[in-house]
Amino acid sequence: MVGSGAVAANDGWSSRTAFLMAAIGAAVGLGNIWRFPTLAGENGGGAFVLVYVVCVALIGMPMVLTEVLLGRAGGGHADAVGSVADVAERSGRSRKWGAFGLIEVIAAFFILSFYSVVAGWVLNYVFLSGGDVLSVVLAGNPLSPAFVGQSQAEVTGMMGTLFSSPGRMIALHSLFMAVTLGIVMLGVGGGIEKAATWLMPAFFVLLVLITIYGAFAGSFAEAVVFLFTPNFSALTPLAVNEALGQAFFSLSLGSAALITYGSYVPARVSLGSTAAMIAAADTGVALLAGLMIFPIVFAAGLDPAAGPALIFQSLPVAFQGMPGGALVGLAFFLLIFFAALTSSISLLEGPTAFAMSAFKLRRGPAAILVAVLAFAIGIACALGYNVWSDVRPLAFWSVFENTNILDSIDGVTGKLMLPLAGLGLAVFTGWRADRRLVEAESGLSGATFVLWRGLVAWLAPVAVGLILLFGLFPGLL
Ligand code: PFF
Repeated sequence: MVGSGAVAANDGWSSRTAFLMAAIGAAVGLGNIWRFPTLAGENGGGAFVLVYVVCVALIGMPMVLTEVLLGRAGGGHADAVGSVADVAERSGRSRKWGAFGLIEVIAAFFILSFYSVVAGWVLNYVFLSGGDVLSVVLAGNPLSPAFVGQSQAEVTGMMGTLFSSPGRMIALHSLFMAVTLGIVMLGVGGGIEKAATWLMPAFFVLLVLITIYGAFAGSFAEAVVFLFTPNFSALTPLAVNEALGQAFFSLSLGSAALITYGSYVPARVSLGSTAAMIAAADTGVALLAGLMIFPIVFAAGLDPAAGPALIFQSLPVAFQGMPGGALVGLAFFLLIFFAALTSSISLLEGPTAFAMSAFKLRRGPAAILVAVLAFAIGIACALGYNVWSDVRPLAFWSVFENTNILDSIDGVTGKLMLPLAGLGLAVFTGWRADRRLVEAESGLSGATFVLWRGLVAWLAPVAVGLILLFGLFPGLL
């Protein structure tokens, strides 16, 4: 039977809109606002953006449908392993295909551990810029302003101050993880859906407002030229590889979120168009984030290729020089916090659903178990910036020779686990799963179905296979 299954009947999305909000919330996160502009800036702008959009359209979007579809077809299993194994069994194949679901669950668990640490940095800046707003609003308030009147060197130094304080980093990390856990413990309808339906609209309003602000106060035309004029000489094979990997991370592919969220979708919802909307919204937000950030970067004369420090170290300085800058700074970091929270919720939900079914736990204990373990690994990531800054966990592997704990986990999940799970599920869905079952569940028909299945069966395995190969052996390029 094709349908929503027992789990979705008990605690699923109340509507298609609710699912859309939650799935877009999962997709839109630090990847869009922090990683995408950074990568575009480092890889010459327009050409990278173009390749990224092509990757999303031809590989990302079809894979979003694949994962959501496997989740809903999974016969009442909320977890990624059970869902994939069930579809395999009903297709007359081995349940061992569920192993790719397990890779996704493990990837989600590890991404959650460091994602929460980086989201803690965002919280740090929410508090700092909140203090600045207070200091502007309340004349003579006791708080000393964080950014107001500070030089670039001083603002840059704030990141260093945070990094050299393990206690502060761990406190922020635990705060963020606790909020994530609280929402997931409230369940799909009562927690995840409610959070997404409040936070995502707030996110969009802030995004549009800051973009409009940047358009007037910043160098909008320069940003548009930078983002949309392809300069193909800047486009290296490594950048193409990077674009495809970024598409995976940004769409939350390969990390159990979409399969698990898909399992809560009612049978009446047509998945094809829904998946297209998720991918389009995620890409739209990435582009808008570029249009939000780069006008400010150019107006302040900052370097677009400044890398990961761009949003934390450069923008707070740029905001100060602008009218209403303190408030814009607070709005900006709040926006990133909302985006990170709806993503971390999805990162916790996938492994939680798995723990519920694998260890026969209720939601509460399962979510606590996963969150506490991920929290512990996150502590190691945070310590990797101070006490354990010499630790190189993957020193034996040339690609990760010089990467600290956090970046090693980011690297292994992003370069190895996500593509591997994606590759396995593309091959499974394109070649091994029952064609009629897949067709009925996809909601696609005729030429659209043939096109989608062709992309999943042929293009995705080849392209994703290439990410794996070149991600792990860049020397081949
Ligand atoms: N897509 C999120 C982002 O762009 O920040 C990150 C993410 C969330 C990855 C959920 C994987 C996942 F399952």
